[in-house]
Amino acid sequence: MTAGKDAGRGCFLLCRVCFSEYTNRMPRPDKTPTPDQLICDFTGGAVGHRFRFGGGRGQALARAVGMKAGKTPSIVDATAGLGEDAFLLASLGAAVTLIERSAVMHGLLQDGLARARDAGGDVAAAIDRMTLVHGDARVVLASLSADVVLVDPMHPPRKKTALVKNKMRLIREIVGGDEDAVELMRVALATAGRRVVLKWPRLAEPMPGIPAASHRITGKSTRYDVFMVG
Ligand SMILES: C[S@@+](CC[C@H](N)C(=O)[O-])C[C@H]1O[C@@H](n2cnc3c(N)ncnc32)[C@H](O)[C@@H]1O
Repeated sequence: MTAGKDAGRGCFLLCRVCFSEYTNRMPRPDKTPTPDQLICDFTGGAVGHRFRFGGGRGQALARAVGMKAGKTPSIVDATAGLGEDAFLLASLGAAVTLIERSAVMHGLLQDGLARARDAGGDVAAAIDRMTLVHGDARVVLASLSADVVLVDPMHPPRKKTALVKNKMRLIREIVGGDEDAVELMRVALATAGRRVVLKWPRLAEPMPGIPAASHRITGKSTRYDVFMVG
């Protein structure tokens, strides 16, 4: 994705946000997503609910990165997106560096992090463990050191229309399909201190050209392929 394309998509999105202020007041005959649903929000919705009532270190992602009682790895989230996975890990005590290459997504993240910090309390404490970097992880990873690198590129598109899928559709409009994910995985495997965790659709084939995972943790719709490297 070039910076020009990314900026172009951002302008397009902004226009649609303005337009949706008008159209949202009208009845919607279908479930077409509106761009103003694309907000980085760590305090409300499903993310806020998971923060307050989530399953702690027993959750699949926490187990995949190797969190145990008394063991908290440092983490780089190489594909930050809306920061939801990174926030979950930070809320469990990990220091997380988030890398995002899309200027639009990076802007949404900056905004969400600032609002969550202003909210204070436990949420702000988790946000303080998160460091956001703007750049391409294939380049940035070499200058960082962390126990774990988390890689969650855009997944192949699916047809379901649930809200979470709509959110992914909007992100796809901005960032495209992450066709260079294999290259990112290679860099992650070469730079991670202990392990790389690839978040991938539950039923998808393993990523081509990448060694077999050491083990796998499978969730409802996604799975975590864990590659031990240390
Ligand atoms: C599926 S989303 C990640 C969602 C994220 N795990 C979350 O919890 O919100 C993929 C994101 O990774 C970003 N991305 C993909 N490849 C990247 C790279 N090489 N460097 C930095 N960001 C990348 C995309 O721009 C997109 O925002």
